Amino acid sequence: MNRIFSGIQPTGNLHLGNYLGAIRNWVALQREYDCIFCIVDLHALTLPQDPKELRAQTREVTAAYIAAGIDPEACIIFNQSAVAAHTELAWLLGCLTPLGWLNRMTQFKEKAGKQRDNAGLGLYAYPVLMAADILLYKATHVPVGEDQKQHLELARDIAGAFNRRYGIDFFPLPEPQIFGAATRVMSLRDGAKKMSKSDTSDYSRINMTDDADTVALKIRKAKTDPHPLPESEAGLEGRAEAANLLGIYAALSDASLAEAVRRFAGRNFSEFKEELAALAVGILGRIGGEMRRLVADPGYIDGILRRGAERARAIALPNLREVQDITGLLRA
Ligand code: AMP
Ligand code: TRP
Repeated sequence: MNRIFSGIQPTGNLHLGNYLGAIRNWVALQREYDCIFCIVDLHALTLPQDPKELRAQTREVTAAYIAAGIDPEACIIFNQSAVAAHTELAWLLGCLTPLGWLNRMTQFKEKAGKQRDNAGLGLYAYPVLMAADILLYKATHVPVGEDQKQHLELARDIAGAFNRRYGIDFFPLPEPQIFGAATRVMSLRDGAKKMSKSDTSDYSRINMTDDADTVALKIRKAKTDPHPLPESEAGLEGRAEAANLLGIYAALSDASLAEAVRRFAGRNFSEFKEELAALAVGILGRIGGEMRRLVADPGYIDGILRRGAERARAIALPNLREVQDITGLLRA
């Protein structure tokens, strides 16, 4: 059976981009694939985190997965640090990864900023750990938002480098699954900026835990342009804010962008925003409420993670042992 691996960092607020670019798609895929969904706490440590917050966010992301409809019985849900094999495989793969490949990673450049010499080794090596996450389970498919595309190409290159080095067809090359009408959700205040956990500007981001009134207010205040909605997709050219809101509508209603455009063709933004707000409130309101209920019961969440980690280890450890043997590490 084809296997899916994907993950989210337990840093800051989960938002509509995480939901539409990742989690919502996972829910749809869980019946067709053997699925592993991780809370990548070691990746979170590539930037400074408050220890108490990190623990709380780890539980919150777990709650979001479950609240959004991921079945913890059918899928494996666990936090990365609970399976030590991730870091060990990351080392072995890091030894096969040329610096030139890592130097191309645009996310590192963005996150490190101008102070490159002060950026941590972990931030630089982050994509190697991500490759290890995926390859440790021999995952064949990785559903993510568009911003992860480059990291996935690197994971494929690293898998290929291992197979070539040892002359063995061991790791499958993982396929990115970047789909839906909202693979890149933009800020509600600036159509040129990605919606992100770190954006501090008011009303830029809809959080998965926002209540109904806040969701509706943020949509009403979303930046628009003075024209009615276009008659065709071509009319979205140069209208980033309109494209973003229509993409969000399409993704929330499981429709294509073309269908959303057709539905609101020629209408004005205020009418469209009311419909979008009603749709978003209906979906996010339920998920947010369920998240709050789950987070109030940390014992339940921890039980899910513990059981998930056991099931993950049962797949990871035999694979790691095989890698050790292939690599020539003695297991006396
Ligand atoms: P992160 O928040 O960086 O841990 O990302 C977790 C998942 O959410 C990844 O699959 C990302 O590609 C996806 N994601 C993050 N931000 C967005 C966004 N603005 N639009 C679509 N997907 C996103
Ligand atoms: N790097 C991803 C992000 O920031 C999270 C991640 C870590 C991931 N390991 C992964 C995603 C493995 C998919 C598969 O969004």
